[in-house]
Amino acid sequence: MSGRPTDTDLDFSRARRRLRDLDSVLVSGRVTDVIGLVVEATGPGAPLGSLCRISTRDKGGIFAEVVGFRTGHVLLMPLGDLAGVAPGSQVLLVRERPLVGVGDAFRGRIVDGLGRPLDGRGPIEHDAVYPLYGDRMNPLDRRPIREPLDLGIRAVNALLTCGRGQRLGIFAGSGVGKSALLGMMARYTRADVNVIALVGERGREVREFVERDLGAGLEHSVVVAATSDQPPLVRLHGAFLAVALAEHFRDQGRDVLLMMDSLTRVAMAQREVGLSVGEPPSTRGYTPSVFAVLPRLLERAGQGPEGSITGLYTVLVEGDDLNEPVADAARSLLDGHVVLSRRLASEGHYPAVDVLASLSRSMIDVVGPDQQAQAGRVRAWLATHREAEDLDRCRAALVDRRREERQLERLRVRAEERHRAVEERAAAVLLDDLARR
Ligand SMILES: Nc1ncnc2c1ncn2[C@@H]1O[C@H](COP(=O)(O)OP(=O)(O)O)[C@@H](O)[C@H]1O
Ligand SMILES: [Mg+2]
Repeated sequence: MSGRPTDTDLDFSRARRRLRDLDSVLVSGRVTDVIGLVVEATGPGAPLGSLCRISTRDKGGIFAEVVGFRTGHVLLMPLGDLAGVAPGSQVLLVRERPLVGVGDAFRGRIVDGLGRPLDGRGPIEHDAVYPLYGDRMNPLDRRPIREPLDLGIRAVNALLTCGRGQRLGIFAGSGVGKSALLGMMARYTRADVNVIALVGERGREVREFVERDLGAGLEHSVVVAATSDQPPLVRLHGAFLAVALAEHFRDQGRDVLLMMDSLTRVAMAQREVGLSVGEPPSTRGYTPSVFAVLPRLLERAGQGPEGSITGLYTVLVEGDDLNEPVADAARSLLDGHVVLSRRLASEGHYPAVDVLASLSRSMIDVVGPDQQAQAGRVRAWLATHREAEDLDRCRAALVDRRREERQLERLRVRAEERHRAVEERAAAVLLDDLARR
């Protein structure tokens, strides 16, 4: 037979793809305990991160992920509601390696943390599957950051220039304008694809972000929304799914803008998972695994052999404390930070970028010496201005103090005068009295 294609040739590529993803060995166990969000089972003996299905009375069952082991038992966390799980429910291994479907069809769509459509516009076709937690990239395969990226915000473009493939954090307390700034950047940045992960935010904010901040930008964006009411593992998945989607677009040579609102909520989701499986809390209740997850998530952005992922991550700094553990860890892992100031926001100055507290580490590689020098000068002016402001405040305090002192002096003089008058009157009365005797 010749290898020439004929009319009767069938397209087996889809079937082949499905076969490739299929695990043909049935491995299972049974549920023994459920404590909080953690399901303990006798099996399956599968590695960490494996995807399992716990059968329930109604058909379908619940997907769960292996998150730990304890004295021969497997610990799982659900990717949905645990209702319906009973003692002895069967736990089946579905896949040893967590994989997610990715593809061009995700553009313009809004999906949940597990990649299921939320926009009611039908199922999404996958072109490929990607490992959820990523493959480590050889650091030498990364092209250096050399090209500036216009993020549409003058203060940032001029003084904190971001490079294509850079990872930038947006740090601020709550309600200072992180999400609004991210929305502005999503609208004005010229990227081939935006991948936006809204993790752990309120449900209302997702709609607001899509309709108000993103607007027509949705056409070339994917929104992954894992809101605060979702189980912690689904929120984590949402963050990693967004990164996998970004990697898919990058591997096609595209320039991707990956945005995550917020990185702090991702850390909190990992803390919930960690505490549930018995990890000891360390810094401010965060477990050690939180600080292991952050680099795994952040390292996947950046330049690839072709294409790039520019990462923008919002970081909530509780009580405006920039040394809070997650903020501190994020700052050390990222290539720059834009700090928003509550004082500027309260004066109605938006976006409330505090230039002096912010830094773009890649700026030196992406702008010419001219801009570098001019940005330096503006910084120096701002620093002088701030010093002058401080001096002004000192002088005002001094003036107040002097005024107080003068007032005190006046009071003292008046008191003395009154005292003298009283003495004189008393002396007069005494003399009068003596004279009369
Ligand atoms: N660029 C802006 N222009 C006008 N108002 C803004 C801007 N950024 C933030 N705000 C105001 O601040 C509020 C909180 O912003 P938001 O981005 O939700 O804060 P965060 O995400 O830091 O909690 C907004 O509802 C809005 O009133
Ligand atoms: Mg916000």
